[in-house]
Amino acid sequence: MTHAGLFLTFEGIDGSGKSTQARMLAEHLQGSGHEVVLTREPGGSPGAEEIRSLVLEGDPDRWSAETEILLFTAARRDHLERTIEPALAAGKIVICDRFADSTRMYQGLSRGDLRGLVDQLHSLMIGREPDMTMLIDMDPDTGLSRAKGRQGTEERFEDFGPALQQQMRAGFLALADEFSDRFRVVDGNRDMDSVAQDVTDIVMAALR
Ligand SMILES: Nc1ncnc2c1ncn2[C@@H]1O[C@H](COP(=O)(O)OP(=O)(O)OP(=O)(O)O)[C@@H](O)[C@H]1O
Ligand SMILES: [Mg+2]
Repeated sequence: MTHAGLFLTFEGIDGSGKSTQARMLAEHLQGSGHEVVLTREPGGSPGAEEIRSLVLEGDPDRWSAETEILLFTAARRDHLERTIEPALAAGKIVICDRFADSTRMYQGLSRGDLRGLVDQLHSLMIGREPDMTMLIDMDPDTGLSRAKGRQGTEERFEDFGPALQQQMRAGFLALADEFSDRFRVVDGNRDMDSVAQDVTDIVMAALR
């Protein structure tokens, strides 16, 4: 590792339990004396949170696919500069709810095959991957019904139907194969404490 801290991300389809598990892991690690920064994408720094409302609110056709990738990358760059890298340099554990793998999937796949563009921009402007990525894998129908239970103004992507969710699940599993050195796949089709136990075991083993 080129830094003192540990950079962990959570990925998976909508409603798979990423935010829940990221929070539970942060609480567990804090409880065992670690310094933890819990953050999320898009967002995670004041500037990136402003971009978050631009990409998650409003008309689904508000941005072209290409402009959207630029906005996500701009937000990530700010998040990296202002939040993630300073925390890692200070030796903290950074837990991030979604990161570049979500852009590879959602912006890379949902409106045509733009994965190449996403990867080019990533290597140009971001240039780093997490130390470890937890993929919460689960049945899309369950994920969709969990996600639909929520209300809010961040609805630009809420109309992804079951077919796209199936495609995303398969895409995330393929990504886990592609980056098998850093991905750990966790079965999300269980109660949250069982999922959290697996996540804790994986991370504690990595910390030793
Ligand atoms: N293992 C679980 N069993 C049952 N319900 C769960 C489980 N994990 C999370 N939930 C509930 O499902 C909903 C979605 O969970 P959560 O917000 O953590 O998912 P997410 O992956 O962050 O979703 P999104 O992609 O939309 O941000 C929440 O209401 C949460 O309380
Ligand atoms: Mg979430």
